[in-house]
Amino acid sequence: MLNVAYAIGTRPEVIRSARVLRLMVEHPSIDVTIVNTGQHYDDNMLGGFLRELDVPKPNVNLGVGSGDAVLQTATVMERFGRVLVEHRPDCVCVFGDTNSTLAAGLAAVKAELPLVHVEAGCRSFDMRMPEEVNRRAIDHVSSLLLPVSQLGAENLRREAVAGSVEIVGDPQFDVFSRQPQRVGNSERTRGLITIHRPENADDPQRIRLILDDIAAADAEVDWVFPIHPRTRRSIGAVPSEIELCDPLLYAQLLETLFEARICVTDSGGLQKEAFWARVPCVTVRSTTEWMETVQAGANVLAQPGQNLIAAVTSSLALTLTEGYENPYGDGHGSEQIVDAIVRWAEAQRAELSTGDTSRPNA
Ligand code: UD1
Repeated sequence: MLNVAYAIGTRPEVIRSARVLRLMVEHPSIDVTIVNTGQHYDDNMLGGFLRELDVPKPNVNLGVGSGDAVLQTATVMERFGRVLVEHRPDCVCVFGDTNSTLAAGLAAVKAELPLVHVEAGCRSFDMRMPEEVNRRAIDHVSSLLLPVSQLGAENLRREAVAGSVEIVGDPQFDVFSRQPQRVGNSERTRGLITIHRPENADDPQRIRLILDDIAAADAEVDWVFPIHPRTRRSIGAVPSEIELCDPLLYAQLLETLFEARICVTDSGGLQKEAFWARVPCVTVRSTTEWMETVQAGANVLAQPGQNLIAAVTSSLALTLTEGYENPYGDGHGSEQIVDAIVRWAEAQRAELSTGDTSRPNA
């Protein structure tokens, strides 16, 4: 049996891990301990997704909750570290780039356990983003790195990471492609907005500027803005074209996306979901880790007060019905992830039994 401790803690980790965790729980030679850090705790940020996506129930809940990034990271490290002492898994699996990812990954390495990083190699090349710091740090202490595209693998090669690298399909695409796929048929022109990154959401003036620019681009669009708790703290009055609502569950969000003519976001995941749904995307950031979507002509980076109005206007005129390649796999990335972990663990065991311990954390 391969004992895996798998950390989740935020909305994106739950969505993207949904199928991987289901496969792990059902795998005959894996015994998985799912540890929920509790970084996200509202039902509409985490619990609702666990139920909706039939994610196996976490075995351990750390109940970390909100706090500044230092406290949040330190608390996850401490509590996750105690779980590792108690359970002594053969390896620890983390996903993506959140504070939970960093903290659980560092705790694993400090406990001298091999670390597997799913969605390794993502790079925005913007070190002001907490996620860029998290993912770089984790990539350089991981033993097995599983990038979800060729570009991710190239980034890892360029940085000469110490662990083994294997490209797998994107498990987010697995989950997306198993949801009902629709064609929008709304008579009105609809648009979807999500803004939650600290650099956009924490400053009330900036969020107002972003929303004013979006509304100014085309008065005919009915915008829906499911609002993240971080953004709710700073948002004031919004233009009348924009309707605010609580965060949506996954199926509701995709339904809204499929009905939309355009998506304006600063989320990482929604850039790819818009790309797969063939909805033109405007990303309110100066960089993105999902450059493939920009290169395909489906996503454009924009800043308020600069090119945001023009980007929304031109994206509204865009039609993405023609095919473009999906660089994120064929919908079976989760199987590839589980398979890669099992093969890698077997190879580790074989190396250990022959006395070769040259790999990191072996
Ligand atoms: C985190 C991730 C980000 C991811 C996002 C998805 C990091 C560094 N960032 O950002 O990559 O895109 O999750 O949502 O880990 N809050 C609640 N209820 C909740 C969760 C959060 O009220 O269930 C509020 C709290 O006031 C908290 C704030 O939102 O302080 C921010 O939450 P936090 O987990 O620190 O980061 P996110 O902005 O959600």
